[in-house]
Amino acid sequence: MPNAYISGTGFYVPPRVVKNDDLRTQYGIDTTHEWILQRTGIEERRFADEGVGSADLAVPAAQMAVKNAGLQMNDLDMIVFATLSSDHCFPGSGVYLQEKLGLCKGDDAKFVGALDVRNQCSGFIYSLGTAASMVKAGAAKHVLVVGAETHSAALDLTTRGRNVASLFGDGAGAVVVSATEEDRGVRSFKLGADGRFADVLSQKVWDIKKRPFIPQNADGVGQIAPEMMWAQMDGKLVFKNAVERMMRALMEVCVAEGITGQDIDMFFFHQANLRINQYIQQHLGIPDEKVCHNIMRYGNTTAATIPILLAEAEQQGRLKRGMKCAMVAFGSGFTWGAAIVDW
Ligand code: UT7
Repeated sequence: MPNAYISGTGFYVPPRVVKNDDLRTQYGIDTTHEWILQRTGIEERRFADEGVGSADLAVPAAQMAVKNAGLQMNDLDMIVFATLSSDHCFPGSGVYLQEKLGLCKGDDAKFVGALDVRNQCSGFIYSLGTAASMVKAGAAKHVLVVGAETHSAALDLTTRGRNVASLFGDGAGAVVVSATEEDRGVRSFKLGADGRFADVLSQKVWDIKKRPFIPQNADGVGQIAPEMMWAQMDGKLVFKNAVERMMRALMEVCVAEGITGQDIDMFFFHQANLRINQYIQQHLGIPDEKVCHNIMRYGNTTAATIPILLAEAEQQGRLKRGMKCAMVAFGSGFTWGAAIVDW
């Protein structure tokens, strides 16, 4: 059975920078830079322009990952696309990305499978586990795994929505998971979920239990109440569960590998809140030099946080061949996941 390693990384963030103060001055939200910075560590985020969607953001990230893997686009055997801000209700963003990457063009068109993963902030770890399992099983040699989000279109950018709107940003990260006979790659991974908390962080704009699924006015025009339109979150409950679940998931993958936290060279935490990650870091005694953060610059990019971190760390020379890496994420669902990867 081959091993499954990360052969290339890439990322892309849209150019428009939105600083904490811009939320107040440009959008009229009753907030301050100090409030957001103190509670979350966020200083700014990126917002895509109207007309740009998650599959668009994924294109340059995917191209960079494939190039860095030393591959051509048509070497890919599969696309796994993790997002909660899918371009449309259906089809998923994976097929749009496939077409945008040119895989459907020309005589050597390659109609690879395109799978969408809807596990919100844990979407990348779920996708990595899926891709690595496919590669190890011999079902694919090179799987493109993308996490991409266009949150800015679906944030309630008013004071009513400030507890959610101030946290999120747009961006995309990608990795290629490839087969190798070398002794490296994705080792143990652990996925988890607790559906008792499904409503604690949710966006119910689409409700298939209703007839029709979006209420209409007398003219047949869909009408959605703000509490259905926008994401709702019990922040304190999410925070508490994030800390507990991420620590436990990390310990579980370490136990499965027969290692301790001290054996890990680099930690890649989901970037939801710097305070969550600092709490875990302190509790587990992880030194600063082993941790990468980018929430200050990008906010929470959900499924994209970890692949963006990986691509940046590799680009900066912090992440090198032979390092033992831990990745861990938690989010809506609740869902969570952790993985140990020998780079
Ligand atoms: O990827 C997983 C997704 N999410 C998370 O992991 C988020 C986890 N939770 C958190 O990070 C924190 O709960 C938040 C940063 C979201 C909020 O911090 P908090 O200390 O739990 O604040 P809170 O929600 O209890 O709100 C405290 C006050 C409220 O005002 P009142 O009711 O006390 O008058 C909020 O309305 O802060 C207010 N508030 C704000 N004020 C200024 C909420 N958002 C803002 C804001 N600016 N952006």
